[in-house]
Amino acid sequence: MSREASARDALQDVVRLPNHLATAFATLLGFLLCGEESATHAFGDSLVRSSTDIERASLEAIARDEAVHACVIDQWLAKLPEGPANLDLVASRRFFMRLQTRDRALHLARIAALDASVCRMLSQLIRSTALAPYRGLVFGLARIRFDEARHVRVSRALALRLGMSREDLDAVAADIDAQLAGLLTPAEGAMRVLTGSTFPPDRNARDNRIAT
Ligand SMILES: [Fe+2]
Ligand SMILES: [Fe+2]
Repeated sequence: MSREASARDALQDVVRLPNHLATAFATLLGFLLCGEESATHAFGDSLVRSSTDIERASLEAIARDEAVHACVIDQWLAKLPEGPANLDLVASRRFFMRLQTRDRALHLARIAALDASVCRMLSQLIRSTALAPYRGLVFGLARIRFDEARHVRVSRALALRLGMSREDLDAVAADIDAQLAGLLTPAEGAMRVLTGSTFPPDRNARDNRIAT
């Protein structure tokens, strides 16, 4: 199926969501959109400027993905009711901006950790029984997750090449996960409505581990 056709299917499903799912979904998407917008900015700007040719090509591909994700999520949000203001989007935006640093290896490690976390969140949504009847939407989420898993692999590989150790990557991931847990506490209700469980799941849980 073409990207346009599947995007149309996903959008039709978003419109069909019953109110309680639509509101919960809007809450989570608001958070995700902050991440996509800041990732587009980060990859398209600071990292691209300071990378070698090979790195630049990988990072530009990621930046393109993030721009597509932001556009898709924006379209979905336009069809959803406004999410309750229980998620601090200002704090979210601040968190994403703080991920940026002149230390490229550290920046990449943070991006890898963040995208791994987004992957786990998307995996939960993709497995959700409540969302299962909305196959177009689930497919749309799976498409984003597929891209994010690749971003994790690319970012981790580049961070390792720039001198980070696997232990460094794990430490950065633990720090990002702890910050995300705080940031997403107000969204746990929405996650429970959609998936029957809370966010974030244990990053070491078997089903949620990202192969890198
Ligand atoms: Fe993304
Ligand atoms: Fe990403």
